[in-house]
Amino acid sequence: MHTRPHKALFRLLRRLSDGHFHSGQALADEFGLSRSSIFNILAQAESMGLTIHAVRGRGYRMPEPVEWLDGEVVTHYMGAEGRNYTIHVLDSVDSTNTALMAAALGGAADGTLFCAEHQRTGRGRRGRQWHSVVGGSLTFSILWRFETGLQSLAGLSLVVGLAIARAVNRHSRHPARLKWPNDILVDYRKLAGILVEVQGDMNGPAFAVAGVGLNVRLDELQRDAVDQAVVDLVEMGVTVGRNQLLADCLQELHAALNIFRQHGFAAFREAWLSLDAYAGRAVALTLPDSRSVQGVACGVDETGAFLLCDMQSILRPYNGGEISLRLDGAR
Ligand code: BTN
Repeated sequence: MHTRPHKALFRLLRRLSDGHFHSGQALADEFGLSRSSIFNILAQAESMGLTIHAVRGRGYRMPEPVEWLDGEVVTHYMGAEGRNYTIHVLDSVDSTNTALMAAALGGAADGTLFCAEHQRTGRGRRGRQWHSVVGGSLTFSILWRFETGLQSLAGLSLVVGLAIARAVNRHSRHPARLKWPNDILVDYRKLAGILVEVQGDMNGPAFAVAGVGLNVRLDELQRDAVDQAVVDLVEMGVTVGRNQLLADCLQELHAALNIFRQHGFAAFREAWLSLDAYAGRAVALTLPDSRSVQGVACGVDETGAFLLCDMQSILRPYNGGEISLRLDGAR
């Protein structure tokens, strides 16, 4: 849904997600709206994929209560590390990355975090859309500032992927692994995607906005909208709440960023390789100019570049592109 939802929608949803019925009249009185407005707003929620029970004589309720994002709860779960972030929970936004890039240009501080219940035009890598479900996704973006220039940010997006995989693996018996440059996969199905956008001087002040979209509980609509195999936490048997998971992601990211700022990607290479889902697999690498190179995936180098061993057994690093498994399985 690309249109802006009614401004009372999320307050209403929070009210309904206690699992109890609320009559249309009680909601109308509480929100200062007419009963027909309540009906129309909740119809909007259904068009966003949420299920609302409407029972004549009893009212409305959400049969599957949602754990809504709450900045104070996330900060509490993070303990002392909470002071490293300024958390803004947004009900609906075009894209947390777009909004945070704008805030960064307006002077927002290092550690500013935007997380959203709903993105109207979520963005993926390579100009793709990113689909998320209200209450069934974790979508957030973080701003980091650097004095060491864009040249020092090589491999940052891989480090973000590693930190998110570590946070998921605190809860999962079935390990989340990595696909270069920064997808998070379980059994070759995508659990989370990362979009890092940078701006600034080559050698002076620069900033990065790292956006993370993670599937918690997908619905059929969303599965159909995505043209690749996907997985969600519910399917993996992971029952952690979204606020706890966000806190875990932020802790892992903070720890990783401290090391990255001092040592760059080289300090993470071994850890990244230990979660590499494609190591030794026959792959095709589609380059940014659409050419395709075939070979065997051989991990990443100290800068985070993808290493491909081609048909002539020559190992070459690549900085851009997208890999896919070759179904012929040739090595
Ligand atoms: C990808 O795998 O293509 C990257 C997906 C990144 C999605 C996240 S959701 C939060 C942030 N806001 C966006 O618009 N995109 C990123």
